[in-house]
Amino acid sequence: MKTVISLKNINKSFGSKDALTQVLFDIDLSLHAEKMTFVTGPSGCGKTTLISIVAGILTPDNGEINILDINQNSLSNEEKALFRQQNLGFIFQQFNLVPTLTVAENVAVPLLIQGQDFDYAINMANVLLEKVGLKSKTEAFPKDLSGGQQQRVAIARALVNNPKILICDEPTASLDGSTGHSVMKLLKDISMNTERCVLVVTHDNRIYEYADMFVEMEDGRIKNVINN
Ligand SMILES: Nc1ncnc2c1ncn2[C@@H]1O[C@H](COP(=O)(O)OP(=O)(O)O)[C@@H](O)[C@H]1O
Ligand SMILES: [Mg+2]
Repeated sequence: MKTVISLKNINKSFGSKDALTQVLFDIDLSLHAEKMTFVTGPSGCGKTTLISIVAGILTPDNGEINILDINQNSLSNEEKALFRQQNLGFIFQQFNLVPTLTVAENVAVPLLIQGQDFDYAINMANVLLEKVGLKSKTEAFPKDLSGGQQQRVAIARALVNNPKILICDEPTASLDGSTGHSVMKLLKDISMNTERCVLVVTHDNRIYEYADMFVEMEDGRIKNVINN
């Protein structure tokens, strides 16, 4: 089983000396390819902080992070940003689509940021939109889509640069039960198809059946790792 992400002895605090709050304690974790891992635990336990560290958005106080065999501590901030563009995709609870762009343009954004040609980016976007079942909506605007359709656009956008790692923060929290299931089936499919690793933060127990592994957090620590 290929390890895609490895965290060793990660600690993270917020604030300055007088008002220092430690929110992550001694996190050790290995995440594998072709697996969907759920990070669960009560609000405030550190889930978003943990995945923000994996995503390179936050820097830990200490410890070591290896992603795709690259020690992230060895990268400059610019190299980290480039690494993120090339290897990571993000999906959020609020779909974060740009209302003034068409569906296809929204999906093309990560490629355009990388400096790809517009026509190429739109073509790739259309391929991904077909994959998520939205071929007929490429010219529509986000407001014309249902919540589930918007989340599928967000999934297409997260996949358009073919990332090895997909990070999802509460991806079904804004969706009804059956839409949530169809979004999770799509993510599961994506995680099984390739060398990809999908990391999902959630406390939506309606979707727990899709997890290969649970990482249960409590008060900034990993309480339990359970294979499903
Ligand atoms: N930028 C920040 N500055 C200070 N405290 C923060 C910051 N971000 C998060 N926290 C605190 O860290 C703890 C964990 O937050 P978070 O990782 O968002 O938890 P979760 O995603 O599990 O709800 C919370 O107590 C929160 O208030
Ligand atoms: Mg959170």
